[in-house]
Amino acid sequence: MTDGPDIDLADVDLFVRGAHLDAFRRLREEDPVYWNEGADGSCFWALTKYDDVQWAYREHELFSSVRGAVVGGSFQSSDDSAAGRMLVASDLPRHRLLKQVVHPALSHAVVEAVSRQVGTLVERAVDRMLADGGGDFAVDVATELPAGALMTIMGVSWEEAHELIRLTRRMVGYRDEAFVDTGTDAGLRLAWLQAEIFDYFEDLLALRRRQPGDDFVSMLARARINDRPLSTDEILYNCMNMAVGGNETSSYTACTGLLALMEHPEQYERLLADPGLLATALDEILRWSSTNAYVQRMAKRDVERRGRRIRAGDSVTLWNVSANRDEEQYPDGDVFDVGRTPNRHLTYGSGIHRCIGAPVAQGELSLLFQQLTSAKVRCRPAGAPRRLRSNFILGITSLPVQLA
Ligand code: HEM
Repeated sequence: MTDGPDIDLADVDLFVRGAHLDAFRRLREEDPVYWNEGADGSCFWALTKYDDVQWAYREHELFSSVRGAVVGGSFQSSDDSAAGRMLVASDLPRHRLLKQVVHPALSHAVVEAVSRQVGTLVERAVDRMLADGGGDFAVDVATELPAGALMTIMGVSWEEAHELIRLTRRMVGYRDEAFVDTGTDAGLRLAWLQAEIFDYFEDLLALRRRQPGDDFVSMLARARINDRPLSTDEILYNCMNMAVGGNETSSYTACTGLLALMEHPEQYERLLADPGLLATALDEILRWSSTNAYVQRMAKRDVERRGRRIRAGDSVTLWNVSANRDEEQYPDGDVFDVGRTPNRHLTYGSGIHRCIGAPVAQGELSLLFQQLTSAKVRCRPAGAPRRLRSNFILGITSLPVQLA
């Protein structure tokens, strides 16, 4: 199966160069259900139309999550210990049981507490930037979003939160020389980086077993499914899921959002003039950034879509970043419009695995942009942004700004 456009979605350079949006436009037009044969040896179907991505999210009986969300990630075999144990890598009925255990950690009260914590940290970071006349927004401000969330959800200190962010950043940036030594075998490197996160949580779990609290790790340590406690593996995998899900998304979205507002100053002025646009502006930032570019599924049965035959066992990727620009859903999808409505973006996914951290992320992001707009902070780029080397998380790792 080598027909169709010669595009390799496994090629990280495509995304770092920013050429992926054109590639997806071609795929949606010429070969929307695309068989990607990656130069790195990975083979997968790529769904690029909004309707198809949403269809696959909803057909969770047909498309399994047990391989994990990342192509070539470390949870590839169904007997891997993550399969069925980690929320994002589980299918029904296990997924429902795990969700009942994990979900209370993100209650309304927790979301409010995260917002208060993030508010304090962001205010401090923005004040520092104002005093300095600028700084690296990605490093100095955006990382305070997940830091505030971790402090609240995991009950750790600011320093411990930043240490965990450093570890998850290395894992998600395992192909990026800014975070790791890329001269080593990629598979081994990923396993090693994952082990670093497990070590962190193993220590925290031991501490919480001795001194339980009302944080996420203590909750998992206390939890029972069918009258049995979770195994240590289950606890560690779900801690990792929560940490990676929370750390590597909202801060990158904040950076892409600020960059979009700097590149479209008339949209920023619109938002300054009408703070009531904050909600639609946030949705537009989420659509525009599509930080979690795709998720992976595995077909459980043969199925046909748009004339292409997907076989049982095939990897299928659901490209949020492409669906969010699909001309049929968004006739003017290349326009950044802070007042856009309706805007049913798929940035948080859809169906049973839809992001459970979405209310937390909404709280973090609205606080940040509310603080920037109410203080009438006007930024302009003070150097080229640096993009994360990844086709899974679309992030900006450095965003030098100057205050205007
Ligand atoms: C802008 C920020 C965020 C984006 C773009 C995002 C994106 C996503 C997406 C696309 C999924 C679906 C995965 C799938 O279908 O396989 C997901 C699931 C998940 N996210 Fe988020 N996320 C964000 C913030 C967060 C935060 C702040 C947390 C935790 C505090 C979090 C924790 C999770 C977890 C635990 C899951 C698994 C849910 C399940 O499998 O049922 N996410 N996220």
